[in-house]
Amino acid sequence: MNNIILVGFMGTGKSVVGKKLAAKLDKDFIELDDTIESKEKMSIKDIFEKKLEPYFRQVEKEAVKEAAKRENVVISAGGGAVIDDENFKNLKNSGIIICLKASPDTILKRTKNIKTRPLLNVPDPKKQIEELLKKREPYYNKADFSIDTDNLTVQQVTEQVMKFSAK
Ligand code: S3P
Repeated sequence: MNNIILVGFMGTGKSVVGKKLAAKLDKDFIELDDTIESKEKMSIKDIFEKKLEPYFRQVEKEAVKEAAKRENVVISAGGGAVIDDENFKNLKNSGIIICLKASPDTILKRTKNIKTRPLLNVPDPKKQIEELLKKREPYYNKADFSIDTDNLTVQQVTEQVMKFSAK
Protein backbone atom coordinates (compact mmCIF):
# COMPACT_ATOMS: atom_id res chain seq x y z
CA MET A 1 0.00 0.00 0.00
CA ASN A 2 1.18 3.49 -0.71
CA ASN A 3 0.50 5.24 2.57
CA ILE A 4 2.98 7.48 4.35
CA ILE A 5 3.01 7.08 8.12
CA LEU A 6 4.65 9.67 10.35
CA VAL A 7 5.73 8.48 13.76
CA GLY A 8 7.89 9.95 16.51
CA PHE A 9 7.74 11.72 19.83
CA MET A 10 5.29 14.49 20.73
CA GLY A 11 6.37 17.85 19.37
CA THR A 12 8.39 16.52 16.45
CA GLY A 13 6.01 18.03 13.91
CA LYS A 14 4.06 14.98 12.71
CA SER A 15 0.72 16.78 12.45
CA VAL A 16 1.86 19.97 10.80
CA VAL A 17 4.15 18.13 8.36
CA GLY A 18 1.53 15.44 7.71
CA LYS A 19 -1.10 18.00 6.78
CA LYS A 20 1.23 19.80 4.39
CA LEU A 21 2.44 16.55 2.88
CA ALA A 22 -1.07 15.25 2.29
CA ALA A 23 -2.04 18.47 0.52
CA LYS A 24 1.06 18.35 -1.69
CA LEU A 25 0.60 14.69 -2.61
CA ASP A 26 -3.18 14.92 -2.91
CA LYS A 27 -3.75 12.25 -0.27
CA ASP A 28 -6.20 12.27 2.62
CA PHE A 29 -4.70 13.12 6.00
CA ILE A 30 -5.50 11.04 9.06
CA GLU A 31 -4.50 12.45 12.43
CA LEU A 32 -4.99 9.46 14.72
CA ASP A 33 -5.44 11.58 17.84
CA ASP A 34 -8.28 13.48 16.13
CA THR A 35 -9.87 10.21 15.02
CA ILE A 36 -9.77 8.99 18.63
CA GLU A 37 -11.22 12.25 19.99
CA SER A 38 -14.12 12.17 17.51
CA LYS A 39 -14.83 8.53 18.17
CA GLU A 40 -14.78 8.94 21.94
CA LYS A 41 -16.36 12.41 21.85
CA MET A 42 -13.75 13.42 24.41
CA SER A 43 -10.37 15.16 24.33
CA ILE A 44 -7.21 13.07 24.68
CA LYS A 45 -6.59 14.89 27.95
CA ASP A 46 -10.00 13.84 29.29
CA ILE A 47 -9.59 10.26 28.08
CA PHE A 48 -6.32 10.01 30.01
CA GLU A 49 -7.87 11.62 33.10
CA LYS A 50 -11.25 9.93 33.19
CA LYS A 51 -10.67 6.59 31.49
CA LEU A 52 -6.92 6.23 32.04
CA GLU A 53 -4.07 5.39 29.71
CA PRO A 54 -4.76 1.65 29.15
CA TYR A 55 -8.19 2.57 27.78
CA PHE A 56 -6.63 5.19 25.51
CA ARG A 57 -4.14 2.61 24.19
CA GLN A 58 -6.99 0.21 23.44
CA VAL A 59 -8.89 2.85 21.46
CA GLU A 60 -5.65 3.89 19.78
CA LYS A 61 -5.07 0.29 18.66
CA GLU A 62 -8.50 0.19 16.99
CA ALA A 63 -7.85 3.55 15.33
CA VAL A 64 -4.49 2.30 14.00
CA LYS A 65 -6.10 -0.85 12.64
CA GLU A 66 -8.82 1.12 10.82
CA ALA A 67 -6.45 3.75 9.43
CA ALA A 68 -4.02 1.09 8.20
CA LYS A 69 -6.76 -0.37 6.01
CA ARG A 70 -7.09 2.87 4.06
CA GLU A 71 -5.19 3.56 0.87
CA ASN A 72 -3.49 6.67 -0.44
CA VAL A 73 -3.40 8.43 2.91
CA VAL A 74 -0.89 10.20 5.13
CA ILE A 75 -1.22 9.03 8.74
CA SER A 76 0.11 10.90 11.75
CA ALA A 77 0.37 8.43 14.63
CA GLY A 78 0.48 9.60 18.26
CA GLY A 79 3.90 9.42 19.90
CA GLY A 80 3.14 6.21 21.78
CA ALA A 81 1.41 4.28 19.00
CA VAL A 82 4.41 2.38 17.62
CA ILE A 83 5.49 1.12 21.05
CA ASP A 84 2.91 -1.58 20.53
CA ASP A 85 4.12 -4.36 18.21
CA GLU A 86 0.72 -5.02 16.70
CA ASN A 87 0.30 -1.33 15.88
CA PHE A 88 3.74 -1.25 14.31
CA LYS A 89 2.97 -4.31 12.20
CA ASN A 90 -0.34 -2.89 10.99
CA LEU A 91 1.25 0.43 10.08
CA LYS A 92 4.22 -1.25 8.41
CA ASN A 93 1.91 -3.31 6.21
CA SER A 94 0.13 -0.16 5.12
CA GLY A 95 3.04 1.88 3.81
CA ILE A 96 6.35 3.56 4.51
CA ILE A 97 7.09 4.61 8.08
CA ILE A 98 9.04 7.81 8.62
CA CYS A 99 10.11 8.88 12.09
CA LEU A 100 10.46 12.58 12.91
CA LYS A 101 13.04 13.18 15.63
CA ALA A 102 14.04 16.12 17.82
CA SER A 103 16.22 16.73 20.87
CA PRO A 104 14.63 16.94 24.36
CA ASP A 105 15.23 20.71 24.39
CA THR A 106 13.46 21.21 21.07
CA ILE A 107 10.59 18.99 22.18
CA LEU A 108 10.30 20.93 25.44
CA LYS A 109 10.25 24.24 23.57
CA ARG A 110 7.62 23.02 21.11
CA THR A 111 5.32 21.50 23.72
CA LYS A 112 5.83 23.85 26.66
CA ASN A 113 2.72 25.96 26.28
CA ILE A 114 0.42 23.17 25.31
CA LYS A 115 -1.41 21.54 28.16
CA THR A 116 -3.22 19.08 25.92
CA ARG A 117 -0.56 16.38 26.24
CA PRO A 118 -1.26 14.56 29.49
CA LEU A 119 2.05 12.70 29.52
CA LEU A 120 3.98 15.98 29.55
CA ASN A 121 1.72 17.72 32.03
CA VAL A 122 4.02 16.79 34.94
CA PRO A 123 6.22 18.80 37.34
CA ASP A 124 9.42 18.08 35.40
CA PRO A 125 8.52 17.70 31.72
CA LYS A 126 12.17 17.78 30.56
CA LYS A 127 13.01 14.73 32.67
CA GLN A 128 9.86 12.99 31.47
CA ILE A 129 10.77 13.71 27.83
CA GLU A 130 14.29 12.34 28.34
CA GLU A 131 13.06 9.20 30.06
CA LEU A 132 10.30 8.46 27.58
CA LEU A 133 12.61 9.14 24.63
CA LYS A 134 15.15 6.69 26.00
CA LYS A 135 12.50 4.01 26.45
CA ARG A 136 10.95 4.60 23.05
CA GLU A 137 14.12 5.04 21.01
CA PRO A 138 14.38 1.34 19.97
CA TYR A 139 10.82 1.45 18.65
CA TYR A 140 11.26 4.71 16.77
CA ASN A 141 14.42 3.27 15.24
CA LYS A 142 12.37 0.56 13.53
CA ALA A 143 11.03 3.16 11.08
CA ASP A 144 12.13 2.93 7.45
CA PHE A 145 13.66 6.42 7.58
CA SER A 146 14.12 9.12 10.17
CA ILE A 147 14.58 12.86 9.96
CA ASP A 148 16.18 15.06 12.59
CA THR A 149 13.87 18.08 12.63
CA ASP A 150 15.81 20.23 15.13
CA ASN A 151 17.11 22.72 12.60
CA LEU A 152 14.64 22.27 9.77
CA THR A 153 11.53 24.21 8.80
CA VAL A 154 8.21 22.46 8.24
CA GLN A 155 8.76 22.95 4.50
CA GLN A 156 12.20 21.30 4.65
CA VAL A 157 10.94 18.33 6.66
CA THR A 158 8.05 17.90 4.23
CA GLU A 159 10.47 17.87 1.30
CA GLN A 160 12.67 15.28 3.03
CA VAL A 161 9.68 13.04 3.65
CA MET A 162 8.69 13.36 -0.01
CA LYS A 163 12.19 12.36 -1.07
CA PHE A 164 12.16 9.28 1.15
CA SER A 165 8.70 8.23 0.09
CA ALA A 166 9.65 8.48 -3.59
CA LYS A 167 12.50 5.97 -3.08
C1 S3P B 1 1.16 10.37 23.22
C2 S3P B 1 1.23 11.28 22.20
C3 S3P B 1 0.08 12.12 21.79
C4 S3P B 1 -1.24 11.46 22.17
C5 S3P B 1 -1.24 11.09 23.61
C6 S3P B 1 -0.11 10.13 23.98
C7 S3P B 1 2.37 9.59 23.58
O1 S3P B 1 0.14 12.34 20.39
O2 S3P B 1 -1.46 10.33 21.38
O3 S3P B 1 -1.15 12.27 24.35
O4 S3P B 1 2.24 8.55 24.24
O5 S3P B 1 3.48 9.99 23.16
P1 S3P B 1 1.18 13.34 19.65
O6 S3P B 1 2.48 12.63 19.52
O7 S3P B 1 0.52 13.59 18.34
O8 S3P B 1 1.26 14.57 20.50
